[in-house]
Amino acid sequence: AERIQGCFQFSMNGKPPAADSPQMTALSVYAYWLSTKAPTGVEIAGRGYPDVPQPKGGYDFKRGEAVYQAQCAICHGDNGEGQKVAGDYVMPPLWGKDSYNWGAGMHRINTAASFIKYNMPLGKPGSLSDQQAWDVAAWVNRHERPQDPRLVEGSIEKTRLKFHANDGVNLYGQQVDGVLIGRGSGS
Ligand code: HEC
Repeated sequence: AERIQGCFQFSMNGKPPAADSPQMTALSVYAYWLSTKAPTGVEIAGRGYPDVPQPKGGYDFKRGEAVYQAQCAICHGDNGEGQKVAGDYVMPPLWGKDSYNWGAGMHRINTAASFIKYNMPLGKPGSLSDQQAWDVAAWVNRHERPQDPRLVEGSIEKTRLKFHANDGVNLYGQQVDGVLIGRGSGS
């Protein structure tokens, strides 16, 4: 229940149902049903996605922007805004007020790089090099998104120290080109 609540709170930037609510029971039961007959205690093929090690030279925002415009903008929009049909998102926004927030795992560059490498571009995953995956993940995650809901005493710096100290893969609370990242965007 706690893990699913985290998806509501961070990935969806919403409000989680209570742990003992009918909605949470339904989601948990559904997950159990999906895993019918699956063995426990072993990794099942297709679960998650492998880590993509950080390239030796790090990552580069400019190169990431170029990858984004060439391979991602067609679905996720020129400004990361996603796409709606009849008022509902059909392509998720990757930054801005409706995106995953600063508390979601996806805001870490390493996590986004491996998700992207193994799942994107939708329809042809695996086509990006490790370097391209890191560059584009960094470009996506240098944009503003809703504030981390765990914000400590209204302070980005205190929140960074408590929840975002894994420097190098996490731009929250860092200066990029003289601008503080993590100010939050809508919500
Ligand atoms: C053909 C359309 C399409 C293209 C091209 C595409 N995506 Fe996606 N992307 C999607 C859809 C649809 C989803 C949501 C479904 C899913 O996660 O599989 C998604 C999900 C994502 C997510 C997760 C968003 C979240 O809220 O957790 C990220 C990050 C992402 N894409 C990055 C990229 C990047 C970077 C590229 C370019 C290298 C790219 N995508 C190219 C359609 C696309």
